[in-house]
Amino acid sequence: MNYRNVTALITGASGGLGEEFARQLATQGANVVLVARSKDALERLASELRQQAGVQVTVLPADLASSDSVTRLIAEVKNRGLAIGLLVNNAGLGIFEPFVDTSLATQLNQVDVNVRAVVALTHAFAPDVIACRGGVINVASTALSNRSPGRPSMRRRRRLCCSSARLCRSSCRRPGHAY
Ligand SMILES: NC(=O)c1ccc[n+]([C@@H]2O[C@H](COP(=O)([O-])OP(=O)(O)OC[C@H]3O[C@@H](n4cnc5c(N)ncnc54)[C@H](OP(=O)(O)O)[C@@H]3O)[C@@H](O)[C@H]2O)c1
Repeated sequence: MNYRNVTALITGASGGLGEEFARQLATQGANVVLVARSKDALERLASELRQQAGVQVTVLPADLASSDSVTRLIAEVKNRGLAIGLLVNNAGLGIFEPFVDTSLATQLNQVDVNVRAVVALTHAFAPDVIACRGGVINVASTALSNRSPGRPSMRRRRRLCCSSARLCRSSCRRPGHAY
């Protein structure tokens, strides 16, 4: 894919893999929309990318565990007239304690970030992605594999996230579109 003039929205861009996605996409000419809760970290990365890559960088802080915040994020992207050609659903968290030893709030927080926000953002931006003949990248985990030990609830949620991506993919197929 040629990323020049493509607008890529990356969740979890304040650090880790998301920051690296943002750096590499900007270096290849993509305009990037940076999403995470840590506004200061996003602003620091944004000014660096503007200087070094000369691309348009938009910072949109959002808490993906909050459906209101996700709704506001989607509205802000549309208000600014940004057509998302590449969506990188990278933000996510793992729970490393056994299911019964973690609070319901912790479990539901993970569902909201790892599944609900992914489905909401993909649903909102799929029309633009299709129009741009772009793509959606869902960052998951090798914990999806049946052979990996432990964390069955995390595995199920990651599977759900990937199933929703496959459903989206099959329903987005159009003649002449290679998804
Ligand atoms: N690194 C690994 O070895 C590994 C292994 C398997 C899977 N993964 C998956 O790969 C992805 C990236 O991993 P990583 O290691 O780079 O993670 P990380 O360093 O912990 O970064 C997570 C990113 O997600 C953002 N985030 C977390 N909760 C959020 C929320 N409620 N709203 C908005 N943003 C939120 C964080 O930003 P803020 O805190 O600023 O919001 C941060 O930018 C995750 O989905 C992770 O599950 C990673």
